Amino acid sequence: MLAGKKILLGITGGIAAYKSVLLVRMLVKAQAEVQVIMTPSASAFVSPLTLATLSKRPVLSEYFNSESGEWNNHVELGLWPDLMVIMPLTANTLAKIVHGISDNLLLAAYLSARCPVMVAPAMDLDMWKHPSTRRNMEQLILDQVFVIPPGIGELASGLYGEGRMAEPEDQFDCISTFFQTKATLIGKSVLVTAGPTHEAIDPVRFIGNHSSGKMGFALALICARRGANVHVVHGPVSASLPSHPNIVGHSVTSAIEMHEQCLNLFPEMDWAICAAAVSDYRPDVIQTEKIKKQGDELHLRLIKNPDILETLGNTRQKHQTVVGFALETENEIENAKRKLEKKKADLIVMNSLRSEGAGFGSDNNHVWLVSNSGTTEIELASKEQIAQTIVDAIELLQHEK
Ligand code: PMT
Repeated sequence: MLAGKKILLGITGGIAAYKSVLLVRMLVKAQAEVQVIMTPSASAFVSPLTLATLSKRPVLSEYFNSESGEWNNHVELGLWPDLMVIMPLTANTLAKIVHGISDNLLLAAYLSARCPVMVAPAMDLDMWKHPSTRRNMEQLILDQVFVIPPGIGELASGLYGEGRMAEPEDQFDCISTFFQTKATLIGKSVLVTAGPTHEAIDPVRFIGNHSSGKMGFALALICARRGANVHVVHGPVSASLPSHPNIVGHSVTSAIEMHEQCLNLFPEMDWAICAAAVSDYRPDVIQTEKIKKQGDELHLRLIKNPDILETLGNTRQKHQTVVGFALETENEIENAKRKLEKKKADLIVMNSLRSEGAGFGSDNNHVWLVSNSGTTEIELASKEQIAQTIVDAIELLQHEK
């Protein structure tokens, strides 16, 4: 997959820079062409000679090469690669690229790059958590940069926490996946809702359901692999949010919180896919103390939750595509068609509780795609395969719009 691919590898001045040696080795072994650019301070952490030897190309760092007397043209560097990777991405370079500063060759090449850019941030845990870094990371994602998220572990400072750069093997996997998948959604932003909501009754009890989040997460992963920037708003799930540079998770508990988070994100989105099993009702009062056992009956008064899918369907702009799910137990197709119309969706993915080995919690699903152009059954398959078919169908709908 990587043979002949041109990768511009930007290395900045952080202790994790020494790991770039391993990444260059893996990329070259996979027959990619690698051109290394270093910020001036990066050479204090890793030797340009080692990188030049491994990449079989001179390492660039300054605009002007005093040895050859040549000018290192950042515009040419920006046009050359199929992918630019910056690893480690320090807090300093992050802040600079977000603000368009170009006071070194690497930054000027970033601003000139026409190809997608992937970054692997690395910094101390407090720098990573700092509101300033949070703001810069949010902007970076809006700028369509692929982020290979840092992990939790021992840091160079001796502290333990989040900020440790993803290992070179993981970076290599992300780069390979990037070239493997059809990148049909580059530049698109997708909102996915996933999992259940929990509607508090008192401090220890809630109304919930059996959704694990697997269906929504599979959709998020497929969209991310195709190049979209994906925001997943999920309730309290048992499945793990897929780890992919393009996926940002927003964890919520109740339908009201999910509704609010979705409304905040939706204006920037091209698609919304509502796979969450949102509670239609919530207790009108949340008791502050645990309800004591008393009498033979307990009556709870429930009030209606806002319908997120319906709100998005009603408020969307022309270019936005809205997809809902329907979990039915009877008159499945008719109910799904009603939801398509009422919630002003482009597509409803119907799954029936009557399908064996599918739906809630299962790794598989069996669905019917219901749109104004007809109904198609998708036989039982893994949720990832179902998600691929759903995303194919949404792409097709978009072309027909
Ligand atoms: O999470 P898993 O274990 O993988 O299970 C997957 C799933 C079964 C939860 C999923 O495939 C599914 O069917 N999700 C939708 C379940 C559901 O709540 O269906 P519904 O028919 O009640 O709702 C219709 C649509 O309106 C859904 O898109 C739902 O997200 C949306 N909705 C519903 C109520 C509400 N207040 N707000 C909403 O947005």
